[in-house]
This record gives sequence, structure tokens and C-alpha cells, in this order.
Amino acid sequence: MSGLVVAMDGPSGSGKSSASRGVARALGLRYLDTGAMYRAVTWWMLDQGVDPADQDAVADRCREPRLEISTDPDAPGISVDGTDVSGPIRTQEVTRAVSAVSAVPDVRRRLVDLQRQIIGPGDIVVEGRDIGTVVAPDAPLKIYLTASADARALRRTAELTGTSTREQRAEMARRDALDSTRKTDPLAMAADAVELDTTPLDLDEVIAEVLRLVKERT
Ligand code: C5P
Repeated sequence: MSGLVVAMDGPSGSGKSSASRGVARALGLRYLDTGAMYRAVTWWMLDQGVDPADQDAVADRCREPRLEISTDPDAPGISVDGTDVSGPIRTQEVTRAVSAVSAVPDVRRRLVDLQRQIIGPGDIVVEGRDIGTVVAPDAPLKIYLTASADARALRRTAELTGTSTREQRAEMARRDALDSTRKTDPLAMAADAVELDTTPLDLDEVIAEVLRLVKERT
């Protein structure tokens, strides 16, 4: 199965991360969490005192942070200039600011280049918002994961502390609206993607369905 690229896109809380890691593990492939890269740049901007809403400042400085990301599905992690930021990139502060930073075309240009370098010869499951449409349009298998707004908010609330399902639902709706309406590389389903609604499925069922599609399509 040399060179396989599985593109996994979808909105927040659709179950992309757990499913992508599970599929990568089952097939012995690498795994790339592109959301972590946008979060790491956002974390760095906040750390440097750059206002995430100031598009010009974000564009000017987005090539400065040096990112290193693990592609091991058993040990995912990301560092910026040698500091492990795997925990800090998941804070509410970063989550609130990330859509503004990821809408800046220069940020996307830099990260899409980096993602393509990492994907390189393939054998990788890549998750994000624009993998099937922009980053890896030739991927032989593209999956677009969806789930109802309630299911997505419930899953996110279970992962986090100190937040209610109602707050989560509002925050996710805000982020999805920004991600799908930005001008550059918005969240979108590729024309040749398979849509998979994970609302009634548990994680093992989602992974089993993706593995079935890999067998069928590649
Ligand atoms: O997947 P995750 O929720 O960690 O992604 C965080 C944010 O990064 C998204 O809300 C989106 O703004 C941005 N993102 C993106 N393109 C990707 C992956 C993530 O714009 N391929």
C-alpha cells in the first residue's frame, strides 16, 4: 500500500482526530494533524503579543515560528522553536483565536507548503479542513466526516472541563461559520469525497467504516 494518502476533512467535533489516528494505527501509516499546526502558529502569535485579528501583523510574522510535528499516531505532538506546545494549543484562548489566524492567506500558504512536504511520498492519514480540496487533491481516498451539532458539542464537552454543552455548541458554530466562509481554502467537501455521518456511530464503527472504504477504493 505504498504512497497511500487518506484525506480526512470535516468540521470541529466530527470525530476526525480519533478516527484518523485509529485508521493510521490500524494500517501502519503516519498521521498528520494539520489543525495542530494552525493552533501552534496561533499560540505563538498570542505568546508574542500579536493581535490575532490584525491580519497584516499575522501575515508579516507568520514565517518566524519554527514548527516540528510528530507524525507518529501513537505519540502525536507539536513544538514551536523547540518548546512542546501540545497542551497549550488546546486552551480556550487559542481555540477562540485560531479561525482568525487560519483565515490569513500567508499563514495558509506557509502551512500548506509544510503539509505537502510532510505528506511527501505518502503512507499517511491527514486530517483538516482543506486536505481533499487544496493540500492533497490527488489523494485516492477522501472522507468528509459530519455529525449533528448536538453530537459534536456533546463529544467536545466530554473532552474538556469547565464548559457546558450549550457553550460548546455556540463556540463550535462560530468557528465552523468562520472556517467555511473565509475566502482562502474554506472548509468544504471535495466533489469526490465520501461523506460519513458519524452521529449514530461510536469510534470503532467509524474506524471500521473508513478501513472498509480504504479496501474498496485503493
Ligand atoms: O482541527 P482543529 O479543530 O484543531 O483545527 C483548529 C482550527 O484550525 C480550525 O478551526 C481551522 O480554523 C483551522 N484549520 C484550517 N485548515 C486545516 C486544519 C485546521 O484552517 N486544514
